[in-house]
Amino acid sequence: MKHLAVASVLVVLVTVVAVTVLESIDLLPVVASTEGVVADRLFSYQMYVIAFLFALVAVFMVYSAVVFRRRPGDDGDGLYVRGNTTLEVTWTVIPVGVVLYFAVLSTEYLLDVTSAPQDPVVVDVTGAQWSWQFEYPEAAVTSPELVLPLGRPALLRITSTDVIHSFWVPEFRLKQDAVPGLVRDLRITPNRAGEYVVRCAEICGQGHAFMLADAKVVTPEEFETWLMSHGASDDPVVRGKRLAELSGCVACHSADGKRIVGPTWLGLYGKEETMADGTSVTVDDDYLSESIREPGRRLVEGFSDVMPATYKDTLSDDEVADLIAYIRSLEQ
Ligand code: CUA
Repeated sequence: MKHLAVASVLVVLVTVVAVTVLESIDLLPVVASTEGVVADRLFSYQMYVIAFLFALVAVFMVYSAVVFRRRPGDDGDGLYVRGNTTLEVTWTVIPVGVVLYFAVLSTEYLLDVTSAPQDPVVVDVTGAQWSWQFEYPEAAVTSPELVLPLGRPALLRITSTDVIHSFWVPEFRLKQDAVPGLVRDLRITPNRAGEYVVRCAEICGQGHAFMLADAKVVTPEEFETWLMSHGASDDPVVRGKRLAELSGCVACHSADGKRIVGPTWLGLYGKEETMADGTSVTVDDDYLSESIREPGRRLVEGFSDVMPATYKDTLSDDEVADLIAYIRSLEQ
């Protein structure tokens, strides 16, 4: 009984030392997603259990080898032990309980991170020997680097063109195979701005180790700017339409004739409009340009002066021209 008490105290001491040592080492890179925070918590729990198991096995083994070693002149046989049912039941039931507990925690976590995100940034991720490609279908942008806005969930739809790859950004913690012929979803909510690296975590041939891509987490504003400047289109109408969506114009101006907050853009270009002060204006490039930059200056009759006057600062001359080209394309 004395031996058991001493060994138990040693187990506790070794566990504490092992946990302290493990926690002082940077086992994992910095965490950059909300999903990763939960993954790290699970990782810590498992580390505590592993430290305890290590202590349990190592202490009893070393303690027995030292304390119960054969003394000089002792030629007798050891004690004959048939078994110990209580001990066997205990060391079966407790580990089963621990494993089940972790299974429940992990299942909860898996259900949470695989549930459908609200208002996600959709990115189609394609792996190929040996590169990654990122497509933003909503903005018609294709990019060799992954750029994500801070704090907004991203829905990555991952596939491959040739063999099995695996999408992995260690800082996001999550990993997903890219399988040819299948599309697999992965949800990531970046919570730390910075520059990371997308790696391939599945041996896929000669260039596997070099199958890297930049992953950047930027502010939502920087993300919008990046999307705008990476549109592949050289058509001003396409750029203007995208800009209208990205800049929030479409929340107030419909393209189908429906009256929302501001005048619809359908058939607006070239139209004779009556102003609030009774004068009339033909909607042309000059009037549209003025209305985008100084919306309150000449207000169309029947509408209130609610449009933000910030676009003169946020939109460049080229962007205003693109918007006008789009509005003009909606001429009837
Ligand atoms: Cu792709 Cu390894």
